[in-house]
Amino acid sequence: MNTILVTGGSGVLGRALLPTLEGRADVRVLSRHADPRPTYRQGDLSSGAGLADALRGVSTVIHAASQPSRPQADVDMTGVLLAAAREAGVRHLVYVSIVGCDQVRAFPYYRAKTQVEALIAGSGVPCTVVRATQFHEFVAFMLSRLTRAPLLPLPGLPLQPVDVYAAAQQIAQVALGAPQGRAPDIVGPQVLPLPELARTWADATGARTRVLAVPAARRFTPLTRSDLSGVGRTWAEWLAQEATRPNPYAG
Ligand SMILES: NC(=O)c1ccc[n+]([C@@H]2O[C@H](COP(=O)([O-])OP(=O)(O)OC[C@H]3O[C@@H](n4cnc5c(N)ncnc54)[C@H](OP(=O)(O)O)[C@@H]3O)[C@@H](O)[C@H]2O)c1
Repeated sequence: MNTILVTGGSGVLGRALLPTLEGRADVRVLSRHADPRPTYRQGDLSSGAGLADALRGVSTVIHAASQPSRPQADVDMTGVLLAAAREAGVRHLVYVSIVGCDQVRAFPYYRAKTQVEALIAGSGVPCTVVRATQFHEFVAFMLSRLTRAPLLPLPGLPLQPVDVYAAAQQIAQVALGAPQGRAPDIVGPQVLPLPELARTWADATGARTRVLAVPAARRFTPLTRSDLSGVGRTWAEWLAQEATRPNPYAG
């Protein structure tokens, strides 16, 4: 059985990945925090502390650790991880990226994701980059911030949110296979404009914001892949089951 280290295994995607990998790989989780669970390894990708120990005997790394509020940290953490992975003889590194990140110059985080993809591809460590669209939980979290105002004007940005558990299944499958450079993008089953996402979210949660669709100033960059078949629950199904639960991105 492969030994897989999941960086970011304590995060939203990571927590969805762990049950999917159970019984199919010997799984370890890298976290900056001490955790008594036997699968957890304490380590920090910024300093490299604990990394050599965490990588001992590991054949595959799923790299899902990230700090969206500090984009350069993602680039630096990945550099540290790649050096340690090379040293440890890792045979497959899977990097979780975002659909369309290379098309969006306006977001520093998306620029960093693109930079990290290139860093990994040129590292010499056998790798697979797999991009996903925004998770339902993340879209809901962003909307919960936006809908604090009584009136919310929103442009019709199309999004294709995906069920994180379905995305995790695809990513696990990629990690259990051979390195392929780039795996097919992972997307949700429907493309929906932002105002519709906001209205349905407000209806499902009882938020009193009035959403107003407004014309966009510019053409939207493509964050969707309507040409691919989507996986997992639709936004409406997710809302019905989870909209009123505590959001994992809320801290
Ligand atoms: N959210 C989305 O909608 C979405 C969509 C597509 C792709 N993605 C990508 O999927 C990946 C996972 O996203 P997520 O939303 O699941 O992230 P998340 O919930 O914010 O989790 C981030 C994880 O990174 C770890 N981390 C941060 N700094 C670290 C450091 N210095 N050393 C070690 N670990 C560190 C944290 O672990 P500890 O706190 O335990 O150390 C945490 O578990 C990211 O690369 C993201 O870009 C996300």
